[in-house]
Amino acid sequence: MVQNWTPNSWRQKPIQQVPDFPDMAALAAAEAQLATYPPLVFAGEARRLKSQLASVSEGKGFLLQGGDCAESFAEHGADTIRDFFRAFLQMAVVLTFGAQQPVVKIGRIAGQFAKPRSSNIEKQGDIELPSYRGDIINGIEFNEKARIPDPERQIMAYRQSAATLNLLRAFAMGGYANLENVHQWMLGFVKESPQAERYRKLANRISETMDFMKAIGITSENHPSLRETDFFTSHEALLLGYEQALTRVDSTSGDWYATSGHMIWIGDRTRQADHAHIEYCRGIKNPLGLKCGPSLTADGLIELIDLLNPQNEAGRLTLICRFGHDKVADHLPRLIRAVEKEGRKVVWSCDPMHGNTITLNNYKTRPFERILSEVESFFQIHRAEGTHPGGIHIEMTGNDVTECTGGARALSGADLADRYHTHCDPRLNADQALELAFLLAERMKGGRDEKRMVVNG
Ligand code: PEP
Ligand code: CO
Repeated sequence: MVQNWTPNSWRQKPIQQVPDFPDMAALAAAEAQLATYPPLVFAGEARRLKSQLASVSEGKGFLLQGGDCAESFAEHGADTIRDFFRAFLQMAVVLTFGAQQPVVKIGRIAGQFAKPRSSNIEKQGDIELPSYRGDIINGIEFNEKARIPDPERQIMAYRQSAATLNLLRAFAMGGYANLENVHQWMLGFVKESPQAERYRKLANRISETMDFMKAIGITSENHPSLRETDFFTSHEALLLGYEQALTRVDSTSGDWYATSGHMIWIGDRTRQADHAHIEYCRGIKNPLGLKCGPSLTADGLIELIDLLNPQNEAGRLTLICRFGHDKVADHLPRLIRAVEKEGRKVVWSCDPMHGNTITLNNYKTRPFERILSEVESFFQIHRAEGTHPGGIHIEMTGNDVTECTGGARALSGADLADRYHTHCDPRLNADQALELAFLLAERMKGGRDEKRMVVNG
């Protein structure tokens, strides 16, 4: 048991990013209601994810984490979930081929609703209203009523998460993820893109390999790993009342787990060592993510690792680095060196989204070349330091949106208006996400060839 910790001990600490709920009794009632609902995920699943992440921390795997910046109540359709899952599986296959290692798959989904904001106020013309904080808190419409935090939304978010997770489990375990379907994961609009041919070639190679394996008796019927995949969920643990309500004791181990998702992470704005979000997260046993931005010092990072992973358990902590393409070289090496010097076991992951947001034609966007450049620097720096570039963390969708500029189809600033649908930050569309996966796979292959040359002299 973690010392001096209870699921509500965070309430004694200073806290950032809390919504102004006008009716505290209604908030308490919603939280009490949630506390009676079944868990969304199980402790055993979280432990399984932790052991897979432990392998990544030892250099024996790669983490792919991605999904919406913010899920929304309006876009909760089966097609949206399926198309995300297809695009994600395609990326995973491409990366598995590139890394020649298992890819650990975690969605930003089935719970990714609450958003930290840089300002409490949003201004349009002369009108000022409270900022939108995600569908679990208030509405995105720009009017006074919608922006009032409403605790009932937590119940809706819970129910939506349950339904999403149900479909994802069916896709992952019920045959959709069968490698024999590798050709069918291609989305309609990606079929015409420059990625299509590359993907088809790779899918053909996989099909050929499967035919060969079938010939020697290894089929998806007798090898579940060919027809099923592990898919985990994650979100930012921002709204702590909601998290607390879903915090449960695991009957097998007697430990506390967050049952709102398999992995939860702490945002860059809420990682103060003596504040509420770190206090909550230190007491649960799930794998944790910690966003690391430019303001994090090496000593600050070690202090946080001491709090979040005092036993130095492999797989417990993933450091999600989000510096920006032009800052990663200034910040990442000093953090890697501190972690190495102290012998801390972590997964290093690169979020090339949150440090690369710009405004263009009044739209928040992210240039694809900057995203790629941050990932490339992340890989190069790890190679130079002799550490494992363990994964990526991206905002993406399976829909054909126009939110990030660039990529093989060269989306321009003028294209942004066409299909800009995100409720928060700009996401890669399926085409751009697949392109990123191919470029990454090439880098990983390059890294392996380099290593081989060193080994063989
Ligand atoms: C996010 O991941 O959506 C987010 C807000 O990230 P960060 O905390 O790194 O800014
Ligand atoms: Co975001």
